[in-house]
Amino acid sequence: MKKILITGATGQIGSELTLALRKKYGSTQVVAGGHPSKPPSDNLKESGPFVIVECLDIESISKIVEEHQIDTIYHLAALLSANAEKNPKLAWQVNIQGLLNVLDVANSYHCAVFFPSSIGVFGSSTPKNKTPQNTIQRPSTIYGISKLTGELLCDYYYHKYNVDVRGVRFPGLISYETLPGGGTTDYAVEIFYEAITKSRYTCPLKEDTYLDMMYMPDAIKAAMQIMEVDGRNLPQRVGYNITAMSFCPRELAIEIKKWIPRFEVEYNVDKSKQAIADSWPNSMNDQVARREWGWQPRYDLPGMTKDMIEKLKLKLGNNRHHIKML
Ligand code: SER
Repeated sequence: MKKILITGATGQIGSELTLALRKKYGSTQVVAGGHPSKPPSDNLKESGPFVIVECLDIESISKIVEEHQIDTIYHLAALLSANAEKNPKLAWQVNIQGLLNVLDVANSYHCAVFFPSSIGVFGSSTPKNKTPQNTIQRPSTIYGISKLTGELLCDYYYHKYNVDVRGVRFPGLISYETLPGGGTTDYAVEIFYEAITKSRYTCPLKEDTYLDMMYMPDAIKAAMQIMEVDGRNLPQRVGYNITAMSFCPRELAIEIKKWIPRFEVEYNVDKSKQAIADSWPNSMNDQVARREWGWQPRYDLPGMTKDMIEKLKLKLGNNRHHIKML
């Protein structure tokens, strides 16, 4: 039976992945690890063990792994792209030193590791459309540089120490449970909150900026599935391209308008975010993930939009004017 630790469990992915893993493996089998700066929701705290984990302190990780007899670590703690640009040194520390600490602990205690990489590993010189699994990678953001370095470190620990590390390159993730924090693709979440609460949204990216996206249930499915398959069938191992849809703000707005006809979008471009988005692919080719471990998304743009609006309306309910946006 798996015994799992999740770092960054209070974040956008972690808050949902923790609950999904608890449902599958049992609540006591999944330890949610959060940073002191991001307190857990009641749901996360009450549904199973919660610990404070400081990824920059290797002792903090190894103590938890030893105490709870962890055999699998989902290492989600990281700074996202827009935040990382504001503090590149901190991003490097958290995204690289944090990962190195996790890999060293995994090596000592024989744990498997899940490492989430990103569309950020690509840069302007990468082919933009149907970006292949293996291609030119010269990222221009500190986030992308740290994620690409992270992939290489994972490869290194696998080949040198036989640490069972696996991972995917997530596109922008859309969800209604927990807001993302400081990413370039966050607009695709914020737009739903504003559409429901104000019927208006000011978008920080140009209307024709195409990016890969995915609805959270598919992201959770991917993270769980890749850790369950036979590792001998994973020649690529880390950094699998996975995507579910590619759209631009204009297309997303048209889809939302089908449910909220009064909805209007205006554009006030954030130069820094736009530069990041422009350096990333329009759409990735994820055939290698499909072939090697059966990756298959369920939600496309219309399916995701319908579900997001239904779930968010329920969530916001009467409190819709009290939503705290990032
Ligand atoms: N969603 C991330 C970001 O925008 C990309 O992986 O930073």
